[in-house]
Amino acid sequence: MRQAGRYLPEYRAIRAKVSFLELCRTPELAAEVTVQPIDRLGVDAAILFSDILVVFDAMDVAVEFKPGPMLPSPLRCRADVEALRWGDPVGELAYVMDAIRACKRALADRVPLIGFCGAPFTTCSYLIEGGGSRDFLEVKKLLFTEPDLFRSLMANMSELLAKYLIGQIDAGVDAVQIFDSWAGALGPRDYVDHVLPHTRALVERVQAYTPKDRPPVPVILFARGNANLLAHTASIPADVLGIDWSIGLDQGIEVVGRDRVVQGNLDPGLLLGPRALIRSRVADTLQAGAGAKAHIFNLGHGISRFTDPAHAKAMVDAVHEGL
Ligand code: CP3
Repeated sequence: MRQAGRYLPEYRAIRAKVSFLELCRTPELAAEVTVQPIDRLGVDAAILFSDILVVFDAMDVAVEFKPGPMLPSPLRCRADVEALRWGDPVGELAYVMDAIRACKRALADRVPLIGFCGAPFTTCSYLIEGGGSRDFLEVKKLLFTEPDLFRSLMANMSELLAKYLIGQIDAGVDAVQIFDSWAGALGPRDYVDHVLPHTRALVERVQAYTPKDRPPVPVILFARGNANLLAHTASIPADVLGIDWSIGLDQGIEVVGRDRVVQGNLDPGLLLGPRALIRSRVADTLQAGAGAKAHIFNLGHGISRFTDPAHAKAMVDAVHEGL
């Protein structure tokens, strides 16, 4: 949830010298910022410093960060979709694989490393909208006017992303997380018909992969805007289900079932409030999480750039102190 990022002065110091994309593409620097929150906050896992949109490097699709992502040539018609190149994400994103190896060296087994990608829908949404969106009308126009084309785009993306995550596993990550940040743009019926099968295929392909010398790695699935989609998302057998902050964790656990492992879900906005409130909400979240098979404490979405790192540390300390 962007534990490495602009709220940390040591991150800003590096970003003053290089652009966001240069940082993603320079393995030693990416490893350095990945480790920064481990040292400062004492969190129990590192997440690779990268972005869900660098995968477009395997497709020759340009993306800029200003600082939000912007694609100069979004897909708007059948010819645009058919002209896409589906390259080899492991070979063409060698800098990600190198960053993973550099992170593993820098972490020296202190904490596990999480790799990640965007889910097919979120990734395709950026391709079609050309950036973030409030109403996702370009996505819906393509989906509802050319459903077969949309289906083949999603199927190709699911396959590319599976190869990308398997490459990350071979490079050494200990778990992978799939971010479906824009899932909530669709109603349940269209999510089930047009999104879920491709997300499921991605999760199952990665779960079926056994790396050399170790068991398959756990797959964490996070879909945002998910309170009303959660029952459907939970039909995917991901090892861990991320729950966003729009639903109470206790309620979310009832929806997904008490036999599932859940991750979440403090509202990152709470970190802008006083420490006493952060501590009491952490305690509430841990108590709710005790109702699940297992609970990984996390924020319910990305940390704000305006967060005081001392407040993030207060949250982590409260988690470690327990209930
Ligand atoms: O620490 C970590 O969590 C790992 C790094 C990470 C980033 N992006 C770094 C980043 C991860 C896991 C992501 C995932 C990502 N990127 C998602 C899925 C998670 C979510 O937030 O829903 C999405 C939708 C993106 C696309 C993206 N990249 C956006 C919308 C933005 C702008 C964000 C903003 O706050 O302005 C980015 C840029 C980005 N990705 C930054 C960071 C640290 C800020 C860029 C900067 O340093 O200038």
